[in-house]
Amino acid sequence: MTQVIHLDPEHPEYEAIELAASIIRGGGLVAFPTETVYGLGADAMNENAVRKIFEAKGRPADNPCIVHIDGSEKLAAVVERISSKAVQLAASFWPGPLTLVLRRKPEVPSAVSAGLSTVAVRMPSNKIAIDLIKSSGTPVAAPSANVSGRPSPTTALHVLNDLDGRIDLILDGGTTNIGIESTVVDLTNDPPLILRPGWITRDMLSGVIGSVEYGTSAEELRHSPGTRHRHYSPRAKMTLVEPGSPPELIERVCRERLQHGPVGLIGYTRVNIDNPNFKNIVLKEDPAEYAHRIYSAFRSMDEQLVREIIVEGISDSGEGAAVMDRLRRAASVDNDGH
Ligand code: TXA
Ligand code: MG
Repeated sequence: MTQVIHLDPEHPEYEAIELAASIIRGGGLVAFPTETVYGLGADAMNENAVRKIFEAKGRPADNPCIVHIDGSEKLAAVVERISSKAVQLAASFWPGPLTLVLRRKPEVPSAVSAGLSTVAVRMPSNKIAIDLIKSSGTPVAAPSANVSGRPSPTTALHVLNDLDGRIDLILDGGTTNIGIESTVVDLTNDPPLILRPGWITRDMLSGVIGSVEYGTSAEELRHSPGTRHRHYSPRAKMTLVEPGSPPELIERVCRERLQHGPVGLIGYTRVNIDNPNFKNIVLKEDPAEYAHRIYSAFRSMDEQLVREIIVEGISDSGEGAAVMDRLRRAASVDNDGH
């Protein structure tokens, strides 16, 4: 059975953190909130414990996990060479939603990195996450705490719906702040490559370390095999509408699709459709609001058994790039069945 413990996010109760840490030390699985999404944690130095993560999520073995640490000084325990760019980025953005890919120390089991010679590391800013890692006394490997292929969880209930009975404990710290996953930057490449856009934007990164490129899909595949799997996907078919499309067009698309079954519209344009099969989640046209609510909106549409979800896109600039990355992936055609 999976136990759920509710915590005060600002002042996490000591006993609950200690219990969670003892589960991590014993090789078990604990889901916990971070500032981005909930993670499914295990002792990163324990190969068996890491394997349990893959089993619980149904995660393909070639999709590497992020290792979470509670201070930049812990980086030396998991990576081989700490470049000056790594030092600068950690000083600027940690704790926070930035993941650095560096050379992996042999002490870190290769299962964590799906056999790659690198390892992805970040220091989260959520108090529950930091207290848990500190009390565990070991780096914590944690992918997002969803069943593989489903949207990342932003509440403890999302985790429970996906993983009840498959993990030991869920620490419930309420809804996560940001709502989409961290930026992943590969520092083993020169110039560094963004393998996954996130809340720390390309401009923010290059403001600190100079030139930074977006990984091409070929590079993404080579450096981050997991990105080829279908991600962030609702069960329903999903269609992404370009930002700035006229309201009449959006309304017409919804009406057409309603002839085939229930339709969910997630977006900021108001449409006037009076039909019990039409579900509408209205968001502000703002990257922070989209990031905060999009995965929850996907799950809600799935629960309402819509046949098709229509999502209105936002501008790609600044933080919008990370949101649009997730929307494009969710809308993309399945390429390998995950
Ligand atoms: O915000 C986040 O990053 C959340 C929270 C829980 O920290 N975690 C998360 O983990 O999103 P996950 O496993 O769902 O996504 C990890 C991403 C994947 O795209 C994976 O391919 C990439 O990081 N990754 C992990 N290790 C890597 C490595 N050694 N080289 C390149 N990419 C790596
Ligand atoms: Mg994930």
